[in-house]
Amino acid sequence: MKIQSVKGFHDVLPGESTRWTTLEQRARAVFAQYNFQEIRLPIVERAELFQRSIGETTDIVEKEMYGFTDRDGTALTLRPEGTASVVRAYVEHAMHVQEPVSKLFYFGPMFRRERPQKGRLRQFSQIGAEVIGRVDAAADAEVILLLHDLLADLGIRDAAIHLNSLGDRACRPQYRDALIDWGAAHADQLCDDCRRRGTRNPFRLLDCKQPGCLAIRHTAPKISDFLCDDCRVHFARVLELLAAEGVATQRDEYMVRGLDYYVRTAFEVVASGLGAQNALGGGGRYDGLVRALGGPDVAGIGFALGIERLAIVLEAEGAAPVPRPEFVVAPLGAAAEREALALAHRLRRGGARVDVEAHARSLKSQMRHADKLGARYVIIIGDDELAGRTITVRDMAAKLDRQRVAHLDTTLSELRAALAEPLDSRLERHA
Ligand code: HAM
Repeated sequence: MKIQSVKGFHDVLPGESTRWTTLEQRARAVFAQYNFQEIRLPIVERAELFQRSIGETTDIVEKEMYGFTDRDGTALTLRPEGTASVVRAYVEHAMHVQEPVSKLFYFGPMFRRERPQKGRLRQFSQIGAEVIGRVDAAADAEVILLLHDLLADLGIRDAAIHLNSLGDRACRPQYRDALIDWGAAHADQLCDDCRRRGTRNPFRLLDCKQPGCLAIRHTAPKISDFLCDDCRVHFARVLELLAAEGVATQRDEYMVRGLDYYVRTAFEVVASGLGAQNALGGGGRYDGLVRALGGPDVAGIGFALGIERLAIVLEAEGAAPVPRPEFVVAPLGAAAEREALALAHRLRRGGARVDVEAHARSLKSQMRHADKLGARYVIIIGDDELAGRTITVRDMAAKLDRQRVAHLDTTLSELRAALAEPLDSRLERHA
C-alpha cells in the first residue's frame, strides 16, 4: 500500500521549487540592501516560549500548536511562527551587548494545526524580518518600506498594505473594556465563538469572518478614539514618513492581528485573488516582548510573508521558468559512457548545467529526451567520435541541422568560445 503525505503537509515539486528559490534569492537581495543579516533558528522550541509571547488565549496557542512531551518530560512544540524564536535567540545570546540594533531575517517552515484549504496549510513557510532595539517611528516606516520593496521585487503587483495602531499599555486597556461592553451589548447577534471569547480576548471580535459578526462590526468602538497622545503622535509620524516615500497604505481600524504581542503599529499585506486566505503577510511592533522573555527593555518590530501564498499569487501571473541544461551529453554505447561522464564532469566543474543520457538508448530517443529537457546543445559521443577523440555538438536552437566537431577533452571555456564563433570559421563542418 502506498504511503501518502499528512493532511496539510505538502511537497514542493520541481518547477514549483524553482519559484521558491527565485523568491528566496530576490528576498536575500532586498534584505542585503537594507543591511539585514540572516538568522537560522531551530524548528523545535519549548512550548512555554509561545504561551508567553503569542498569548494563551490566541487560536494558535489554544488549539493549533503541534506540541509533544520530550522523553525527559519537557513540553516542546514545532514552532508556529518565527518572531518568538528570534527574540528568544536575541535574549539567549545577549545580542544587545554587541549591537544596539539587531536587523535579522529568516526563512523557514512553521506549523499550525489549522483547517487546511487553499493557501492554508499545517506546514507553511515564511520569509520574516525583525528589527530589535528601535522604538522610534522611523523604524516602523523603514520596515514597512522594506516590505513594500520586497513585494515589488518579488513581482507581487496588486497587494495592499493595511495599517492600524493597536495602542499601547497606557491606552489599550480602555479600548479593551469598551470592546467587552460592546460584545456584551450585542451578544445575541454574535456567533458562538465570539460570545465565548468576548471577555477573554475581545479583540478577536473584530477579526471574526462570520457574516452575522461582520454585519455589526461597523458599530464597534474604534481604536482611533482611544489612542493616547504618544501612540497618536507615533502613528501620525509613521504615516507621514511613508507618504513622503510614496508608499500607499490603507488604514484599517478593525485589523487586530492574531498574536497578542503587538502594540502600536500593526499591518497586513492583503492580496486580491487569494480568496478567504487573503493575507500575504503581516507584522507589527512588539515593544515589551523582549523583556517579557527575560531580556532587556528594548523595542521590536517586524513582519513575515507566507511563501505558499506568494507562490499562489505569482502562479496566477504565469508559469515558473524551469531551468534548462546548457549541454546534454549523448553517449552511444558502453565505450562512450566513461568519456561522457568525464566530459560532463569537466563541463560541470567549469560551471555549466549539464545532463548525461543513458548510453543504451538509441540516438533518436536520446535526442528526443534532450529536446524535452530544453537542452541548448547536445554533445554526441559515438564510435566515430571515440576513434578520433572528438565530439559532435548539435545546436538545438539552430533551424538547420547544424553540427560542429570539437575535441573530446575540450574545456568549458574552449567549447563555449568555439560555439560562439560563426560556423565553418574555426571548426570543421561535420560531414
Ligand atoms: P502571521 O500573520 O501569523 O504573523 O503570519 C504571517 C503570514 O504567514 C501570513 O500572512 C500568511 O501569509 C502566512 N501564514 C500564516 N499561517 C498560515 C497557514 N496556516 N498556511 C499558510 N500560510 C500561513 C506572524 O507569524 C508574525 N510572526 C509576523 C511578525 C514578524 N510580526 C512581527 N514580526
